[in-house]
Amino acid sequence: MPTEAENTWDNAESPSQSSSTKPSGLDKIKIIGGNPLYGTIPISGAKNCALKLMCASLLTGETMYFENSPNSLRDMNSQRELLRYLGCKIEHEGAALTINADNIETYTAPYDIVRKMRGSILVLGPLLARFGEAKVSLPGGCAIGTRPVDMHINGLEEMGATITLDEGYINAKAPAGGLQGAKILFPKVSVGATENLLMAATLANGTSTLANAAREPEIVDLGQCLIKMGAKITGLGTDTIRVEGVKALNGTQHSVIPDRIETGTYIIAAGMTGGTVTLKNARIDTLSSVLGHLSQAGIEVTQNNGDLVVSREIERLRGVDIMTEPYPGFPTDMQAQFMAMLTGADGAGMVTETIFENRFMHVPELNRMGADITVQGNSAIVRGVNGLKGAEVMATDLRASVSLVLAGLVAKGETTVNRIYHLERGYEDIVGKLGRVGANVRKA
Ligand code: UD1
Repeated sequence: MPTEAENTWDNAESPSQSSSTKPSGLDKIKIIGGNPLYGTIPISGAKNCALKLMCASLLTGETMYFENSPNSLRDMNSQRELLRYLGCKIEHEGAALTINADNIETYTAPYDIVRKMRGSILVLGPLLARFGEAKVSLPGGCAIGTRPVDMHINGLEEMGATITLDEGYINAKAPAGGLQGAKILFPKVSVGATENLLMAATLANGTSTLANAAREPEIVDLGQCLIKMGAKITGLGTDTIRVEGVKALNGTQHSVIPDRIETGTYIIAAGMTGGTVTLKNARIDTLSSVLGHLSQAGIEVTQNNGDLVVSREIERLRGVDIMTEPYPGFPTDMQAQFMAMLTGADGAGMVTETIFENRFMHVPELNRMGADITVQGNSAIVRGVNGLKGAEVMATDLRASVSLVLAGLVAKGETTVNRIYHLERGYEDIVGKLGRVGANVRKA
């Protein structure tokens, strides 16, 4: 199966590329390891929240104003491309983003745009709820398992929608009077299905209950924005969310929460390399499980006037076991980075992945750098080694790619991370942010 990295790099807002110009997604990052990091890294708005907030804009004809939006990410670019295709008017400058969905021209989200990013499935619920119909291509995204969308579809059917799958498209129609409130019990905790159904329920007739709902901070932030838009929602952050449908929603202003995964990634970078790093605009309360495990490993994180200060307490970090779980458990999106950290730890750590199958693609690459990792089923034993060695590596998903960058920061000699396409999907200015705190890193 082709991965996203193999089959696409371009989109509407990319600077035009002639055949002689190399698209930036195929660039490499070169790192010479060994520098401790000192200084300040600003944390961007959360990608996994901003993408959904953009979809929420489809629920109203009034203008939405977002701040702290990670606009330079490739995934944000793909989402803008999709919303513009649907007919939205969008402007963005710096971290400000304005979206108006008053003149929607089509209810179809085409394969060419949706295949780039799984987050685009989140237009399904809002389109269906506001316009009564939607046609959305089955999504692409990182190549981390099969990632079905059955729970999104079943939930919308329980709200009265008629859904057929045809030639790779989800065709959805609401009943004549609009979607109906429903009691939906998710068989498994899903971030995306919870968000799609939450948005759909805001404009449905009557009350909806989402049971076994996901509790991620990004969902709470989306829900708080929906409440500002006039939605009636209770239970955000718990496993049971109740939504009383309203006739229409209004525009509002909303600031995107800081990215907890970017924050966790730079905490590990600081801890692995030594030194002291301050993370600006980060939120400690969304990282409890990660910080608990990092503290056991020997990384200290303290809060200082809204910033986080990270330092390593001991000469060599300790091996610690982790198991990924839905929030508030250890996030699957931090698993690869944690594993990169364990490669150099004193002792061993076991990493168990329970959310996605096929999410150990970084393992062979880390082993090529000298790591000692053995995978058995959905667990990996990482035995700490005395130093990694630089190598040429490549990964085909976002967090796997960044784990290789982390390994490169401490490896002896030069590491080349090929095809930075995936990094650019989820990390704003990663080369600049690491370079400014002392890493020897550059694009090549
Ligand atoms: C979101 C995040 C992703 C993160 C993941 C889990 C975005 C854009 N992406 O992805 O970074 O790794 O949450 O925290 O926010 N599943 C089904 N049927 C469905 C939906 C999901 O079986 O209809 C399964 C998935 O295959 C997976 C599990 O449920 O095994 C959890 O997936 P889900 O929480 O839905 O992940 P995403 O929303 O796709």
